Amino acid sequence: VKKIAVLTSGGDAPGMNAAIRSVVRTCAYHNIEVVGVYRGYQGMIEGDFEPMNARSVRDIINRGGTILKSARSKDFRTPEGRKVAYEKLKAAGVDSLVVIGGDGSFTGALLFNKEFGFPVMGIPGTIDNDIYGTDFTLGYDTALNTVIEAIDKIRDTASSHNRLFFIEVMGRDAGHIALNSGVGAGAEEILIPEENIGLKKLLESLEKSRMTGKTSSLVVVAEGDKIGKNVFELKEYVEQHHPDYDVRVSVLGHMQRGGAPSCFDRVLASRMGVKAVESLLEGKSNYMVGIRNNKMELTPLEKAIKGSSKIDTELLRVAEIMAT
Ligand code: F6P
Repeated sequence: VKKIAVLTSGGDAPGMNAAIRSVVRTCAYHNIEVVGVYRGYQGMIEGDFEPMNARSVRDIINRGGTILKSARSKDFRTPEGRKVAYEKLKAAGVDSLVVIGGDGSFTGALLFNKEFGFPVMGIPGTIDNDIYGTDFTLGYDTALNTVIEAIDKIRDTASSHNRLFFIEVMGRDAGHIALNSGVGAGAEEILIPEENIGLKKLLESLEKSRMTGKTSSLVVVAEGDKIGKNVFELKEYVEQHHPDYDVRVSVLGHMQRGGAPSCFDRVLASRMGVKAVESLLEGKSNYMVGIRNNKMELTPLEKAIKGSSKIDTELLRVAEIMAT
């Protein structure tokens, strides 16, 4: 391994910059050249590279987003696109690749490796925490803290006005953000894609909390939940059945992806970057770096993509008990 390229791809996540910094500094430490690729795989196809050194990544450990920018490249999904990308990397003298992103990004990396035998290493960066092989993905902890800060504020106004709030959080396929922020912010109900409680149970539960003296309620809804109605339709549905309820909706949206990474995400990113580069140096390829029981571990990319990250059923139970 003489020259490593690093890129960020898919939805950005706080901690991606700290991971880029770690990859670059680990390369510098081992006297290996490193180039940053702008705009993910799209930049790889366009040869949008920049040589980096330890000083290029100063002052970024604390910054959200990604200095390398991110993209979801359509061209890289085609064999022609991947071939151009391969040629661009070869021409730049790059012999190994670190991809910071989610499962879509890893699928691309795996294909790229299969087609050209190019060594690749993945670092899981997504706020959704929906990747198998790691207890935590980069950005997840920060996003959770952002979400509970927002929900705490909504709680203030909900309680002043005796209102019911439906709060939509991110998580297209996974309910980790919803479940954990819901427990952390004291939600009445939590709707996640992995467990459809159904509309009837939702109404019953809201009614029960009224009967037991609660004057306001927060319901946290993952954007990919399976109850069959979005947050606005849920509001209408509840109002139809209980015209006396004063219901509001808040969609937190992309603010969940921004902001300075938490200390946890910065440390995790630093550890992951070191592990990714040093694993490539050991001749390993096609793995994702992860953290399990506070130890750095490698999981084959194939498994990381296909394995499902399970929702913690114990936490679901805690959520239910806390809503008593
Ligand atoms: O995968 C991360 C994520 O933030 C999802 O939770 C969300 O559904 C999606 O990205 C939003 O993507 P975009 O930024 O393309 O709107």
